[in-house]
Amino acid sequence: MIFKGLEGVKVCKTSICYMDGSNGRLFYRGIPVETLADKSSFEEVAYLLWYGKLPTKSQLEEFKSKFSRNRDLSPESLEILFKLPKNLHYVDVLKIFLSIHGSVDNSEEDLQEKAIKIASVFPTILAYYYRYSNDLELIPPREDLPHIENFYHMVFGERDGYLRALESAFILLMEQDLNASTFTALVIGSTLSDLYSCIVGALGALRGPLHGGACEKVPPMLEEIGSEDKVEEYVQRCLAEKKKIMGFGHRIYKTYDPRAVYLRDTIQRLFPDNKLFKIAKRLEEYIVGNRIKNIYPNVDLYSSIFFEAMGFPRNMFTALFAMARVVGWTAHVIEYVSDNKLIRPESEYVGPIGVDYIPIERRDEDGKDSH
Ligand code: CMC
Repeated sequence: MIFKGLEGVKVCKTSICYMDGSNGRLFYRGIPVETLADKSSFEEVAYLLWYGKLPTKSQLEEFKSKFSRNRDLSPESLEILFKLPKNLHYVDVLKIFLSIHGSVDNSEEDLQEKAIKIASVFPTILAYYYRYSNDLELIPPREDLPHIENFYHMVFGERDGYLRALESAFILLMEQDLNASTFTALVIGSTLSDLYSCIVGALGALRGPLHGGACEKVPPMLEEIGSEDKVEEYVQRCLAEKKKIMGFGHRIYKTYDPRAVYLRDTIQRLFPDNKLFKIAKRLEEYIVGNRIKNIYPNVDLYSSIFFEAMGFPRNMFTALFAMARVVGWTAHVIEYVSDNKLIRPESEYVGPIGVDYIPIERRDEDGKDSH
């Protein structure tokens, strides 16, 4: 049997997250994601995903301080930052710095401690590269600020704005079972490679436009559509040309992606007049209303508009996604390797067997024997 794209295949048991694809529900450790997005902090949800339960007050305080102590880049990394070209994609910047950190960090700490270190340094890498590549002075991390507020401050030099909404968006993006990037991390983890390598691999998978990279394709697509009255024409053209409409469709959600609903409502509340938002809503109405391909908006349709409205550059969107998802990636690797089995699927060979080797001097243009 061949399961193309591993569709419908389960490779392990997990208690980290449950996706109810038919009803458009998502639960982290059993708690509905909307509740966490409304009420929780980034650190509290990270604790929940990593340790399996919500922390007590004192556990959370201790955890937060551990989180904030690991924000600095090493002097060696800083030296490299100032040598980088200024037009790199933020996902590549993350890959560069995580590879360096991974090489330097030979500690024997357990995976959990490493996961905290990795997640803590993401905001610093992104914010520093943002400031450096825009010829702005770097703003060092502050240990007294929570994770998201510190990040926002390091990027924009401010501490207000829609920080609660931003934190909610990051919570929504933190975990999503065995999507392509998490599975990549598991494949690497299952070889007993190091956690940094798992994350670097996951970043590569996340970046593709069928996965997290879709969020960077959405704004240009909405600009190409141009106005609400051009939506129908655009959709019909995509269907005729068999082109994917970015920000729609999902392997698991066969109805609304709950994260898209949450973010759409957030934008409606905070940025109702956003031009791209109006086009996106019309696109949603047209596609869902006409049951086109039975696809629904996914998180990337609205996360992209939200991140843009918050002032982040487009080529940072996927990296922002990663800044949240790193918690899910590491949680899954830790869970999987605790009962490890090398991930090694097979393919069904359909080529010939026992083919004659023709020496190169006798090989013709078609690879056949010319003698
Ligand atoms: N636009 C047009 N048609 C679509 C779309 C779309 N966005 N999504 C699915 N379809 C069609 C597809 O053409 C196919 O039709 P047919 O059976 O006639 O060939 C049918 O629906 C099934 O699609 P599929 O591509 O086989 O389904 P999949 O489960 O392999 O793909 C997907 C899921 C996310 C890759 C796909 O929906 C897609 O390419 N979407 C656009 C890219 C995107 O927004 N990705 C973000 C995904 S959610 C967040 C994340 O993972 O990071």
